Amino acid sequence: MSGYVEMGRVIHNTQIGSDVWRMSIYAPKQAKEAQLGQFCNVRVTGGTAPLLRRPISYAGFDAEAGTIDLLYRVVGKGTEIMTQLREGDTLDCLGPLGQAFTTADRMLLVGGGVGIAPMLCIADRLQPGQEAHVILGFRNASESFWADLFKDSPVTVHITTDDGSLGTKGYPTTVMETLMKEEQFDVVLTCGPTPMMKGVAAVAQQMGVPCQVSLEERMGCGTGGCVGCACQGKSGTRYKVCKDGPVFPAEEVFF
Ligand SMILES: Cc1cc2nc3c(=O)[nH]c(=O)nc-3n(C[C@H](O)[C@H](O)[C@H](O)COP(=O)(O)OP(=O)(O)OC[C@H]3O[C@@H](n4cnc5c(N)ncnc54)[C@H](O)[C@@H]3O)c2cc1C
Ligand code: FES
Repeated sequence: MSGYVEMGRVIHNTQIGSDVWRMSIYAPKQAKEAQLGQFCNVRVTGGTAPLLRRPISYAGFDAEAGTIDLLYRVVGKGTEIMTQLREGDTLDCLGPLGQAFTTADRMLLVGGGVGIAPMLCIADRLQPGQEAHVILGFRNASESFWADLFKDSPVTVHITTDDGSLGTKGYPTTVMETLMKEEQFDVVLTCGPTPMMKGVAAVAQQMGVPCQVSLEERMGCGTGGCVGCACQGKSGTRYKVCKDGPVFPAEEVFF
C-alpha cells in the first residue's frame, strides 16, 4: 500500500520517559484505514532539513475519534523536531504504509524499545476470541513506563530487564521458552532490536510456532520508490522493507 498524505492536527505531544514521547494526532482517514503493524512516514518540517520523512509505527488508532497515536524515541534531528510540536500544530503524515501483522487467536507478542509501539496497538485491539501474552524487554527499571501503557489492555504482561532491576533478569527470550511450554500459542509477533528479534525467532522456530518480525530498516521514500530500505530474503529475493514489509515471516528474512 502506498498511502496518502494527510495533514494531521496534533492533539497532544507528551513526554512519557527520559527520551520517549507519545503524540496523538487527529488524522481521521488513517485512523480508519490503518492496520496493525503498519506505519506512517512523517515530514517533521516544512523546510528541507531533514529532507527525508521519518517512519513511525502506529502505536494506536481510533476510527471513532479519528486519531492515530505515535510513540517515539528522540535519537536525532527529526525526532527532536517532533518534540517541539504543540496542540493544534499540523503534521504531514504519509500513510498507512507497509504490510500488517497477521493476528491469530492465541498470540505471544514480544517487544523491545520503541518496538513495543506496534505490540501495544495489537494488545489494545484484540478481537473477540483472541488472547495475548506480552513480553517486554527493557534495559532497566527506569523504562518501566512502557509497561504502564498496557495497564488497560486485556493481556498478560511479562517484563525482563537486562540488569534484573525489574521483572526477570535477562532478555525476553529468557522467559519465552518457559512461557511457551506452559501456554499454547498460534503465532509469535515481534518488533524491536534485530538481535532480540533473531533470538525470539529462533526460540519460536525451536518450539514449532510461526513467527512474524517487523524490521526497522532506515528508509528513504517509504513507498517503494527508491532502494533505501532493501533487504535480502532467504530465497534470494530482494525486498523493499517499506513496501514488502516491515512485517515478514521470520524464516524469510532471518534464517
Ligand atoms: C517501519 C519503521 C517503524 C518505526 N517505528 C518507530 C516508532 O514507532 N517509534 C520510534 O521512535 N522509532 C521508530 N522507527 C525508527 C525511526 O524511524 C527513527 O528513529 C527515526 O527516523 C530517526 O530520525 P531522526 O532524524 O531523529 O534521527 P537520525 O538523525 O536520522 O538518526 C539518529 C540515529 O538513529 C539511527 N537510526 C535512524 N533511523 C533508524 C532506524 N530505522 N533503525 C535503526 N537506527 C536508526 C541512525 O543511524 C543514527 O545513529 C521506525 C522505523 C521504521 C523503519
Ligand atoms: S524507502 Fe524507498 S523503497 Fe523503501
